[in-house]
Amino acid sequence: MIKIAPSILAADPLNLEKAVRKAEKAGCDWIHVDVMDAHFVPNLAYSADTVRRLNQVTDLPLDVHLMMDHPETMVDAFLDAGASCLTIHAETESDTGSLLTAIRSRGRMAGLALKPATPLETVLPYLEMTDLVLMMTVEPGFGGQKLDARVISKIRGLKDMGYKGEIEADGGIREDNLEMLVMNGLSVAVMGTALFGQKNMEKCVRRLHEIQDGQQAL
Ligand code: DX5
Ligand code: ZN
Repeated sequence: MIKIAPSILAADPLNLEKAVRKAEKAGCDWIHVDVMDAHFVPNLAYSADTVRRLNQVTDLPLDVHLMMDHPETMVDAFLDAGASCLTIHAETESDTGSLLTAIRSRGRMAGLALKPATPLETVLPYLEMTDLVLMMTVEPGFGGQKLDARVISKIRGLKDMGYKGEIEADGGIREDNLEMLVMNGLSVAVMGTALFGQKNMEKCVRRLHEIQDGQQAL
């Protein structure tokens, strides 16, 4: 069944606990926490302290997405704070292999993210060291953008390689484009704007979960 990971970047920053409890009650599977350093992406978001506090108010796994240069400076802090999955970008100058190994050595899921324009081949040397590949379906940095359909071929390509880890997409995912992503191999959908904008999140998440079983979501 497709896993739904609401991105709290789209939640009210003054009411994160309320947003996370609402997502948990609605049946979401993970909580996606975007971390931004205003350098790798032109925006700033969430700290390890926020992750620590979120970890105290929800039992859902925290799926932390590091959109930052030099992630090696913060990997331990986010693991100490309770990240269940910690994802770094393949485009940084860091030693990707050793960071992925370090994350796994602490018993957490190691994730590798690609921006839309970064070729799928970039992840090949690291697939054995990852538990999740995150395909950005928008240019990272902001929520509320339109999904870049060109990324679908990268999702399909990774699936066709027989990749056994989670295939996650992030950005511009909505109820009306999720089915096509799932049919191309998606296993985790990050949804911010489309979820936190819902009047009835529970009903929406139920429909989203049905997509995997080939039932009509709409
Ligand atoms: C963008 C972030 C996404 C974003 C979700 O850099 O990584 O997680 O918050 O996007 P929407 O709101 O389009 O679902
Ligand atoms: Zn994200």
